[in-house]
Amino acid sequence: MRVLGIETSCDETAAAILCEKKGLLANQLYSQIELHSPYGGVVPELASRDHIRKLSPLVKETLHSAGLQLKQDIDAVAYTSGPGLMGALMVGAGFARSLAWSIGKPAIAVHHMEAHLLAPLIENIAPQFPYVALLVSGGHTLLVKIESVGKYKILGESIDDAVGEAFDKTAQMLGLPYPGGPEIARLALEGNPQRFSFPRPMTDRPGLDFSFSGIKTHVLNTLKELSSVDDQDRADVARAFEDAIVDTLRIKSLRALEQSGARTLVVAGGVGANKKLREQLKEKLAKKGLEVFYPAPEYCTDNAAMVAQLGLLRLDQLDSHNFADDKLAINVRPRWSLENL
Ligand code: KG4
Ligand code: ZN
Repeated sequence: MRVLGIETSCDETAAAILCEKKGLLANQLYSQIELHSPYGGVVPELASRDHIRKLSPLVKETLHSAGLQLKQDIDAVAYTSGPGLMGALMVGAGFARSLAWSIGKPAIAVHHMEAHLLAPLIENIAPQFPYVALLVSGGHTLLVKIESVGKYKILGESIDDAVGEAFDKTAQMLGLPYPGGPEIARLALEGNPQRFSFPRPMTDRPGLDFSFSGIKTHVLNTLKELSSVDDQDRADVARAFEDAIVDTLRIKSLRALEQSGARTLVVAGGVGANKKLREQLKEKLAKKGLEVFYPAPEYCTDNAAMVAQLGLLRLDQLDSHNFADDKLAINVRPRWSLENL
């Protein structure tokens, strides 16, 4: 069985082909970062239009690089149907469903976050169930316990900004380009950790939810209080901000492991690339005999391999319903809780 996966939920156009026996045969991605960079964040309408331009050639290239023919070699088309940007999702869903229809194969709607949670299974040395996933990206901050495929419990989530969004907005305040995470991390290396201290929100009370808008306000107020802001000031703010975020994520992740009884933490999403977060989690978890697992960077951020994988897992569960009369309907779910799968 071979599944073509398509991902267009945000600012990455991606396509991949996963084979049940041989694993990943192709994995292509086109990032829109440059397109959105002047605006300091993703502009939904620009994202949709760019997906329209790029998706068809990208799928062709994906098939070509795997040496496969669509009609003969593909058994199903999986696509992200939510959560994400409405227009961007519509492009992927419309394309994927039409393509599947054209070759008489099933189209499989996939939940983007579920695909992220199971992304580590693509790799040869996958973590054992149960594990806790810390999903930290531009759009999401989640702690989820994964008991097995299809069995998820949300332990905590952000009640306001996603952590990546906090990085991006703080970077904007510091005059840094988008995406802000890597820029802040770079600048923080020059910063003095003693100069400012920002709060570690919601760590002093029980529970596993997050809130990041307060730290952002703290950054704004700190900058306002300085009469003029020089390079050292900006580096010191970046350092205080990064330290506060990393501490918060570490405290909550450890708490999630302790409360859930799982022994492995999987870190996914773009913020998972943060070096300080990686070092701290590795060190603190090891002290408690716990493990941290990082999927390879290409499976950590948005990609279509994870979509194809979930499609492959779902293919077994498909019934005739998938070929029934709603086959031509194109429905997406911009808001879609993991608990309503
Ligand atoms: O998962 P991702 O690539 O895309 C989506 O959110 O869809 O995550 C992107 C986010 C951005 O907010 C970016 O600023 C953040 O990940 N990011 C980082 C780092 N690299 C990327 N945040 C902190 N430190 C980093 N090194
Ligand atoms: Zn994502």
